[in-house]
Amino acid sequence: MSRRTVNPSRRLADNGSLPFSGTLHQKSRTSPLLPIGLLALGAFLLIAYSYGGLGGFGSARDVSHAGGDVSCMTEVIQAIPFLKKAYGDSMRKILHVGPETCSVVSKLLKEEDIEAWGVEPYDLEDPDSSCKSLVRKGIVRVADIKFPLPYRPNSFSLVLVSDALDYLSPKYLNKTLPDLARVSSDGLVIFAGYPGQQRAKVSELSRFGKPAKLRSSSWWIRYFVQTNLEENEGAMKKFEQAANKRSYKPSCQVFHLSSSQ
Ligand SMILES: *[C@@H]1O[C@H](CO)[C@@H](O)[C@H](O)[C@H]1NC(C)=O
Repeated sequence: MSRRTVNPSRRLADNGSLPFSGTLHQKSRTSPLLPIGLLALGAFLLIAYSYGGLGGFGSARDVSHAGGDVSCMTEVIQAIPFLKKAYGDSMRKILHVGPETCSVVSKLLKEEDIEAWGVEPYDLEDPDSSCKSLVRKGIVRVADIKFPLPYRPNSFSLVLVSDALDYLSPKYLNKTLPDLARVSSDGLVIFAGYPGQQRAKVSELSRFGKPAKLRSSSWWIRYFVQTNLEENEGAMKKFEQAANKRSYKPSCQVFHLSSSQ
């Protein structure tokens, strides 16, 4: 019993190096207010335990989100079949923009009837030989997305973006989002992290320059309205229908925007 109560409260305190029993021992040796102390401790443990159930559940979910490799890049790959359903013929010439774009582009290139290109907004870290080959062929480029993309208007039917926008302030978003819309003829799909998802590991921070700013869906929608970017309701509905049919729940926010003009 005592072990079970200690665990959730430790989790609650979120501090593995502070076992409760240690505090208890110290108290019992030195404090003359032992009974009151114990009573308070008991009450605290009881409360901690009852919250522990909820807190534990919440933190377990957070961990699975944060759990190492969960990024919207992997989400794009999982979403390919649903994007095909939603966009049909527009899944022809695709530009993916985001970290680890080589993985997405390689996956897309395996699909029949899909041509794909990628923009890696940060440095390529340890690119494998197939990634190096994509760069050599000019299929994947490293480009700072704060500046206009090196493509002509409507070069692609669809542009997919993952993670990259989470690192941009509104000032740069104001330039980058219209530019992404500029190079796509049929639409723009944005995969963004949910607030509370811990994204970049400390080791990645130097690469991205600053931590991701994960914004709520209401923030994004307000932002799209402000900047006159229209949501593509038709594609959104088809995507959700296809996803629901397979009980696929993206662990990132997915927004479907029309390319203006
Ligand atoms: C971004 O653009 C919108 C709409 O044009 C404007 O209201 C907003 O102030 C801009 N934000 C920044 C930070 O420039």
